[in-house]
Amino acid sequence: MFNIMKNPIGIGILGCGNVGSALVSLLLQEPDEFFIEKIAVQRLDAKRNDYVDTSKLTSDANSVVIDGNVDVVVELIGGTTVAKQLVEVALKNKKPVVTANKELMAKHGFELLALANECGVDLLFEASVCGAIPIVRLLKESLVGEEITRIIGILNGTTNYILTKMSEDNLSFDESLKLAQSLGFAESDPTADISGRDAGAKAAILTSSAFISKVNLDSVYIEGIADITAQDIDFAAKNGLVIKLVSVIEKIRQNGDPDFKISIRVHPVMIVKSHPLASVRNSFNAVFIEGEAIGEMMLYGKGAGGLPTASAVLGDILDAKHNISLRTSNRYTVPKERSILNLDELTNEFYVAVDVADEPGVLAKVAQVFGSNNISIASMEQNGFGHNARLVFFTHGSKELDMKITVAQLSELEVVKKVGSVIRVMAKSQ
Ligand SMILES: NC(=O)c1ccc[n+]([C@@H]2O[C@H](COP(=O)([O-])OP(=O)(O)OC[C@H]3O[C@@H](n4cnc5c(N)ncnc54)[C@H](OP(=O)(O)O)[C@@H]3O)[C@@H](O)[C@H]2O)c1
Repeated sequence: MFNIMKNPIGIGILGCGNVGSALVSLLLQEPDEFFIEKIAVQRLDAKRNDYVDTSKLTSDANSVVIDGNVDVVVELIGGTTVAKQLVEVALKNKKPVVTANKELMAKHGFELLALANECGVDLLFEASVCGAIPIVRLLKESLVGEEITRIIGILNGTTNYILTKMSEDNLSFDESLKLAQSLGFAESDPTADISGRDAGAKAAILTSSAFISKVNLDSVYIEGIADITAQDIDFAAKNGLVIKLVSVIEKIRQNGDPDFKISIRVHPVMIVKSHPLASVRNSFNAVFIEGEAIGEMMLYGKGAGGLPTASAVLGDILDAKHNISLRTSNRYTVPKERSILNLDELTNEFYVAVDVADEPGVLAKVAQVFGSNNISIASMEQNGFGHNARLVFFTHGSKELDMKITVAQLSELEVVKKVGSVIRVMAKSQ
């Protein structure tokens, strides 16, 4: 049982990498509030920052989560295997846990939160979504009475940095990625970022928090940015649009259904330059919230990086400390099972680039495919001639399924060399 008068409290940290070492620096500034009891790492002999007291390091992570002097466990290892097992042991030992691990929360959040409820201790995960941006707490506390209808987030700094460099400095995708890696904005293996999977995990956590719904990573439709070309970026700019990788979570009511379905997806969009999200540049993150009473609201800030993430972790540690002193914990509302809307049923406007043979009658053949699938063309432009002929279309609102069929049929046409990018367009009014 915790001593409610205990001050400072003991912190056990699992992992001392980017976030863990930054957290150590913050905790050391508050000796009256915290002491660091133990820090678990993988390599005891690795070089650490000077301020890390190496006598606290252990390679036995299990010893941290059962240590009698540890009042709060902070999981900063990452991944879903070792981290999950350690979090479970900590909770079962009645220790509140703070984590920044999006993968863990997106995959196993429900079972771990249920376990936390059962054990009567906190499991806090603010840093797992947008680093320093306090979105989870905002949704759970300040906006708990709000009927949130849609959230659009730029939740991945690496991809936002790459798209910014492509559009502002005319760099290619590869050049932008290399630059991001050299400046530490991208991992040496950037697959999770580029593929949209990282943003998908964060979208799943956001959905669970905003709509108290059981959603995990497998429910998220995901497209990444690897196929975005310089031509797409140029064409967007000429039309007053900018390309962003967004996570969209939305409540959708169909045909007078009393209950709503959820649409949850990550994909690039062309967004009008006047939209607040269009001005989110470089590695910054932002979350744009729409609700019945609040109208529109946007949070903006650093979504990653050691110190910004550690700041959010520290906020959760203080929350846990407060609850320890009150002998209480946050109770989690058991999330509801909700239907996930199939992407095919959604309506979107599209940008479609089609590389074609430059010969008479091509446009008519291509336009006929759009028309026969109920897709109405808002505008069309031909770029280039001869071998480089490219038709670029903007459509009016069209069913996703109709667009899927159109793309498949266009690819079969002899006059079509390749269907290039197909990117959704988000007008300000949408
Ligand atoms: N970096 C960010 O900007 C950021 C932002 C938001 C959320 N997050 C999340 O925060 C978590 C930590 O990220 P990070 O960037 O700090 O990772 P990191 O730099 O790779 O650090 C991971 C730490 O975990 C330790 N570790 C690995 N396996 C271990 C094991 N079996 N037992 C004990 N320790 C072990 C490593 O030890 P060694 O030092 O000995 O190798 C290292 O200190 C992840 O879940 C990540 O998704 C990170």
